[in-house]
Amino acid sequence: MSLQERVAALEAEVKDAVAATAEDVERFRVAMLGRNGKVTALFDDLKQMPAEEKRAFGQRLNHLKNAAQARLEELKAATAGTAAREVRATDPTRPALTGFPGSLHPITLVRQRIVEVFSRIGYTVSQGPEVEDDHHNFSALNFPPDHPARDMQDTFFVEGPGSGADALALRTHTSSVQVRVMESTKPPIRTISPGRVYRNEAISARAHCMFHQVEGLYVDKGVSFAELKGTLDHFAKAMFGPDVAIRMRPSYFPFTEPSAEVDMSCTICGGAGCNICKHSGWVEIMGCGMVDPAVLSNCGIDPTVYSGFAFGMGVERIAQLIYRVPDLRLYWENDVRFLDQFASGAFRG
Ligand code: PHE
Repeated sequence: MSLQERVAALEAEVKDAVAATAEDVERFRVAMLGRNGKVTALFDDLKQMPAEEKRAFGQRLNHLKNAAQARLEELKAATAGTAAREVRATDPTRPALTGFPGSLHPITLVRQRIVEVFSRIGYTVSQGPEVEDDHHNFSALNFPPDHPARDMQDTFFVEGPGSGADALALRTHTSSVQVRVMESTKPPIRTISPGRVYRNEAISARAHCMFHQVEGLYVDKGVSFAELKGTLDHFAKAMFGPDVAIRMRPSYFPFTEPSAEVDMSCTICGGAGCNICKHSGWVEIMGCGMVDPAVLSNCGIDPTVYSGFAFGMGVERIAQLIYRVPDLRLYWENDVRFLDQFASGAFRG
């Protein structure tokens, strides 16, 4: 092989060199650029050349050497860490790899916080089944038989659609739990019921077919609307800070009379107006009202002796106002890039 041919062959070899591990890279370096390497050897040949050929050949060799060095760096970069990994696998003194322990879901963080706020003022936590009968989800709560909330539009029925006494459905609110508590407990009752609820809605950024609620109930002698307002004002301040205010707007629920929708001063813009509060300065946070006397008697409580208030909020809604999550679906997709942001476990993320 002529000198020219050897150079051409080496040029091709450098260009096509591959390496899977750091050791392959080192082998390449020794074979090409090492003291007895092929490129190094060519420089010895250069010394023997006649002066007039030296210049052109020397330039070509320098090119080859540079190309070999550049390829070496590329291979090093491409295999970086392979040697380290091999060492790791065989180093018995290395501390064990700790797993990824996971963290609480933002909805759990917020639910726990809501429960904590009410626990501190004497509320117990009650739970009930997610598959509910018509009586606990609707009838006892004063839903007339033809009320639209019983319609297939809103309710997932489990055993055939209908509003008969035997119908089973996924609960549409945790008011059903409060019926169960009133049926089995003598007042005074002070309880909250956190849990999953289901509604037959199209899934979008703003709605989901399942979400979480915390509903509350207080029944005793002489419970007043003023106490309801004081309780919810306390809740809003404990949850969002001492500067927030609440206001109540008249509303309608079959099981409360009077009923109200509760708004809170917008925590995002401080009341100045933004797109979260639709430039009103207020955001809706829950529904509430005085328990309808008919509901009390449906549950075996004498409405001439006792009165009560109830309220219910969506945990996702409260979480949105805290974490400003723009799309409800993120809460259900379990994308670790989303969940990682709450990994500190701190309530405010
Ligand atoms: N149950 C109602 C709902 O699901 C909320 C609510 C609870 C309203 C208690 C008033 C009183 O939206």
